[in-house]
Amino acid sequence: MARKKLQRFAENAKASNIIEPGKELFDQIKGKWNERYFQNSNPISLELACGRGEYTVGLAHVYPNQNFIGVDIKGDRIWKGATFALENNLFNVAFLRTKVQSLEDFFDVAEVDEIWLIHPDPRPKNVDARRRLTNPRFLEMYRRLLKPDGWLKLKTDSDSLFDYTLGVLQQFSIRNLMWTRDLYQSPLQDEHHQIKTKYEGVFTAEGHTIKYLKFQFALL
Ligand SMILES: C[S@@+](CC[C@H](N)C(=O)[O-])C[C@H]1O[C@@H](n2cnc3c(N)ncnc32)[C@H](O)[C@@H]1O
Repeated sequence: MARKKLQRFAENAKASNIIEPGKELFDQIKGKWNERYFQNSNPISLELACGRGEYTVGLAHVYPNQNFIGVDIKGDRIWKGATFALENNLFNVAFLRTKVQSLEDFFDVAEVDEIWLIHPDPRPKNVDARRRLTNPRFLEMYRRLLKPDGWLKLKTDSDSLFDYTLGVLQQFSIRNLMWTRDLYQSPLQDEHHQIKTKYEGVFTAEGHTIKYLKFQFALL
């Protein structure tokens, strides 16, 4: 394995803002993020498949009275956001190294106020539909984890993932759906707070427009 990766993994093991296998909180944090990690009662936002965590740290800077957790399976990517948060005293930030599939091992029902999906892998092949992070099985899980007034927000360059997601949402009872196929020409553009990930820079340079949607699940 590359030396840089190994170095990052070693630093992650010591980083106070990364929850990962082998650390005490990893098996004890479910339902207790505010009590055991943030030590406040502020709302919790998740950025799923966060990569380098640009949104997690960017939003944490904009909203100091909210808590932000970036989730990704790749330790060398979350190292970047976690290191930035530590260097910039962003105490309202944590990173969790796990698969999105396992979220319910780490969060209780209605523990979360907001979920961001920022340029998740589009997985265009039909055979991969179950792995898309807006597949119905994931949306069902997000519904359980979100508070009744919680929001789910998706930003993507991918037409196929966006169309797929709008289609899947027809199977769900939702409210307050808003969407645009060109975020930067839309009244919704302020919602992304000018945060652009490295991936987004590549996609926009290739001429893709950025698609965005948000909604709340219906109250039961
Ligand atoms: C295209 S990158 C986008 C990263 C980031 N959101 C951005 O815009 O820069 C997709 C990320 O999703 C992560 N990922 C893909 N599937 C995942 C899963 N099931 N659970 C956790 N992370 C996942 C990958 O490790 C990768 O960092």
